[in-house]
Amino acid sequence: SERTLVLVKPDGVRRAVVGEVISRIERKGLKIVALELRTLSRDTAEDHYGEHRERPFFGELVEFITGGPLVAMVVEGPRAIEAFRALAGATDPVKATPGTIRGDHALEIGENIVHGSDSPESAAREIKLFFPELG
Ligand code: GTP
Ligand code: MG
Repeated sequence: SERTLVLVKPDGVRRAVVGEVISRIERKGLKIVALELRTLSRDTAEDHYGEHRERPFFGELVEFITGGPLVAMVVEGPRAIEAFRALAGATDPVKATPGTIRGDHALEIGENIVHGSDSPESAAREIKLFFPELG
């Protein structure tokens, strides 16, 4: 079994799709082992998206992710990382297949509703950042 960090980003909370995202996770058979509503500090946001620091959209990304409360979760199951990214769909919601979270609920790349860790290394780093108590 594997763990992944899932975020319902501020746009998802604003548009009231938290329940929808949780339902899809549960329907898939994945298990939620931690969950919290919180607003990220600039420091935590810059740390979380550190790999994108040099990208032209970094400032915008940090503004967006700190711009309102988000829901952070740790999700567990067999190949949870890949399983959740399949539920989320492609980063660009226009390219995301209908039936996926992004494919059904988003239109702009900067506001794509959810985040899911992209590798076991990212998952370990991100889970430690959001839920240090989980070890
Ligand atoms: P995350 O799960 O949020 O990490 O998305 P991802 O893994 O599918 O994409 P990636 O890590 O490459 O990019 C992180 C986030 O940056 C994306 O989810 C987008 O919201 C945002 N992003 C990526 N490319 C662009 C871009 O060209 N413009 C803007 N404004 N945002 C972008
Ligand atoms: Mg990513």
